[in-house]
Amino acid sequence: MNSFWHNLEKPVSVLAPMEDVTDSVFRDVVHRAGRPMVFVSEFVATGTMLRGEKEALRRLVFNENHRPMVAQIWGNKPDEYYEAARELHLRGFDGIDINMGCPQKKITAKGSCSALINNPGLAAELIVAAREGAASAYREWGDDHQGPGGKLQRGGPLPVSVKTRIGFSRPATQEWCGFLLEQNLPLLTVHGRTTAQQSEGEADWIEIARAAELRRNISPQTLVFGNGDVIHPSQLEEYPRRYGVDGIMVGRGIFTNPFLFAGEEFHDLPAADQIRWAMEHLSAYRTAYEGRRNFEIMKKFFKIYLMGFTGAEELRDSIMQTHDYDAAMDVLKRAAEA
Ligand SMILES: Cc1cc2nc3c(=O)[nH]c(=O)nc-3n(C[C@H](O)[C@H](O)[C@H](O)COP(=O)(O)O)c2cc1C
Repeated sequence: MNSFWHNLEKPVSVLAPMEDVTDSVFRDVVHRAGRPMVFVSEFVATGTMLRGEKEALRRLVFNENHRPMVAQIWGNKPDEYYEAARELHLRGFDGIDINMGCPQKKITAKGSCSALINNPGLAAELIVAAREGAASAYREWGDDHQGPGGKLQRGGPLPVSVKTRIGFSRPATQEWCGFLLEQNLPLLTVHGRTTAQQSEGEADWIEIARAAELRRNISPQTLVFGNGDVIHPSQLEEYPRRYGVDGIMVGRGIFTNPFLFAGEEFHDLPAADQIRWAMEHLSAYRTAYEGRRNFEIMKKFFKIYLMGFTGAEELRDSIMQTHDYDAAMDVLKRAAEA
């Protein structure tokens, strides 16, 4: 199996897709802080993307620093997956990941994302549709078009991977991950919780290890990555050894340490430097979105940076009371100069 995933050095590190967090602006921050090997977009509904809805297109913005850059899609219509894969080829992505893990009720009620755990037939159809869309795009256009940074050298259709959970109401790794491993995927990422658990409890790395073990018999060429509760840089090396996975996907760990992928501790920085990272993020967010996206979404990032130094809590409180860019920047500037 030939895909960019297979050409990466192991263990592979990936920043998890997180809605309203891992946008192009935050990926720039993480790129500067010390990047993972691969970035994934926020999840994008195939229908909204094909209709060209503004929010979907925002989620698909990326730049050359983010490569390899994977688009994550969700939905429940195979024909949309086919067309979405073709469009993602034209937009210059390096891969496509299918979300079979989101537990939100309004989404699972429509049979999408982690509801597919209970509908393996449709899950398989969606994988095939995306793969056929990617293959048809490659036949039609090959590498012969411009990505954001110039001509691409793909060497094959976009690889179609899956991110999922260990089960719906109870762990069903053997049946569900076993089934997915029969779908000839380049990569399966397993979050060690069930849908019913949402984000509660601890991720079950024994079940993740079980998925990695199943792979050895069912589909040795499929990579298996683990996801859930990784917060220390050392776990990026230790967990692959301990649990037999080829890579680690980190989500919320980046909130407590933006330097996690660099193997350093962000909060060892002097307070003024931590505040400067917040100012730079705010300024980039403003450049990207002013007048087009809610300022309030930016606020949740401040607690990433403003943590663990004297006065951090008061600073967070003051910034939470601001409602526009100038006011927030003033609060930060005054704190950085204090
Ligand atoms: C704010 C937030 C948004 C998320 N959005 C997505 C998403 O768009 N697609 C997805 O597959 N998972 C999403 N997730 C789940 C994460 O990718 C990840 O699987 C989960 O947080 C467990 O990993 P962690 O313990 O390293 O955070 C989201 C999680 C959070 C906290």
